[in-house]
Amino acid sequence: MKIITVKNYNELSTTAGRIIADLVSSKPRCTLGLATGSTPQGTYQYLVERYRAGEISFKEVQTFNLDEYCGLPRSHPESYFRFMHDNLFSHIDIQPENRHIPCAEGGDLQSQCDAYNALLRQATVDLQLLGIGSNGHIGFCEPGTPFERETFLTQLAEKTRQDNQRFFNSLEEVPTTAITMGIKNILEARSILLIASGKAKAECISQMVNGPVTEAVPASALQRHPDTTIILDEEAAALL
Ligand code: F6R
Repeated sequence: MKIITVKNYNELSTTAGRIIADLVSSKPRCTLGLATGSTPQGTYQYLVERYRAGEISFKEVQTFNLDEYCGLPRSHPESYFRFMHDNLFSHIDIQPENRHIPCAEGGDLQSQCDAYNALLRQATVDLQLLGIGSNGHIGFCEPGTPFERETFLTQLAEKTRQDNQRFFNSLEEVPTTAITMGIKNILEARSILLIASGKAKAECISQMVNGPVTEAVPASALQRHPDTTIILDEEAAALL
């Protein structure tokens, strides 16, 4: 694991954004794995600025998102479909057919998982961007998820629902299930870039980096990946 510690969230966003922009410049047909949540927002803003400056294009880039809540229509302000549209896709020249987000609408969610997994199997993700949950989850692979899991329907941990309540009006509104890539899918990426900011992440970062590789801390699986870079601000790195 290569660990880069920076001063604050701004520097974290610029550092992560630069790594992604460099890949897009050097390999215009690259495949990116993308995350949602608060942490990558600054990274996406940086990429939008580089695009607007005419320095990078996403015309040939393919993307695969990690996860999507079940029970929210794609048009819901907190769906990850909407998040990606608002924070990145509507601002850049990515082609609609090249962007992939698990579809958690409709009755047969197992078929949606299988369809997404089949798409992932045909692709090779060059760089997978990840955040980390305060309980050590990556994607929505919660503690206890077997490492060999591929795209699946997951039950959100209570801690995750509480952490994400800030995006909703009440805890009751936070979905209880989601479709997520599995840890096996995540580890198949050629490279992994995990970003974390703030003191609420210090404990899980310490467990991910220095603790045992255990399904109790899903992010610890990244210790087994040969090309993982972790960018932390000072608060998230405080317990290393
Ligand atoms: C989001 C995702 C999650 C988040 C994690 C951290 O697509 O897969 O693992 O990365 O919950 O979220 P934030 O950045 O909001 O702290």
